[in-house]
Amino acid sequence: MKNTVLTFKQAKENGSKLTMLTAYDYSMAKLIDESGINSILVGDSLGNVILGYEDTISVTMEDMIHHSAAVARGAKNALVICDMPFMSYQTSVYDAVVNAGRLMKEGRASAVKLEGGKEVCAQIRAIVDAGIPVCAHLGLTPQSINAFGGFKVQGKTEAAAKKLIEDAKAVEEAGAFAVVLECVPEALAKLVTEKVSIPTIGIGAGNVCDGQVLVYQDMLGMFSDFTPKFVKRFADIGSVMKEAFKAYDEEVKAGTFPSKEHTYAIDDDIIEKLY
Ligand code: KIV
Repeated sequence: MKNTVLTFKQAKENGSKLTMLTAYDYSMAKLIDESGINSILVGDSLGNVILGYEDTISVTMEDMIHHSAAVARGAKNALVICDMPFMSYQTSVYDAVVNAGRLMKEGRASAVKLEGGKEVCAQIRAIVDAGIPVCAHLGLTPQSINAFGGFKVQGKTEAAAKKLIEDAKAVEEAGAFAVVLECVPEALAKLVTEKVSIPTIGIGAGNVCDGQVLVYQDMLGMFSDFTPKFVKRFADIGSVMKEAFKAYDEEVKAGTFPSKEHTYAIDDDIIEKLY
């Protein structure tokens, strides 16, 4: 069944959990879509796991559009949400609407995600007014990594926890249909989840959110540069892939691949005439 923003609304109302995974290309989007996951996030984490950057700062609109369009071609039922990259919405409300529009028109996303609370509410409101669903993102917002001074759990002091709750209410008020909570203590995520009527999607926010999101390379053991505490490895595909690559290397070098089974034939008399 096709997932839309209404699926998110109904899930919150019914108390059923939502699932979200990242994807950055057609084949992976298809696999995730066929597994019944509610939503695919074309995350700007592609900067880390696809492009090999240290952070998400260098990711461009062109990067996001390119990958979002590929994912959208593979996702028939999952709601495709595309991240707005660093400086595509912080600069002005006008830039935010234009760039969100590009992610929809050229990237064929069905919603966009942006990071921040009160400070980006004008942008959220304007994008929503343009008919584009917005997912907010609070807590550890990786585009602000330089302001945070590193990847740290957020909302641990009373003031920071209060701000997080206020920000969650503000993004809901501005029209966001969901909010990602990244790297916040579980008890705080529970409070936020109770205080807003839009679904909270947790990543490193415990088991109390209305849904969960993970980066697929993390949950499949395909990315080892760093592994946050909140990642559960559901499979070790990275090792399986390395075994397959090694087997291929050995068979090619031993001359056993390709065998007859993987080879095209032609009549011998045609070949003989060519000698
Ligand atoms: O970019 C991303 O993958 C994200 C998730 C970690 C929520 O924003």
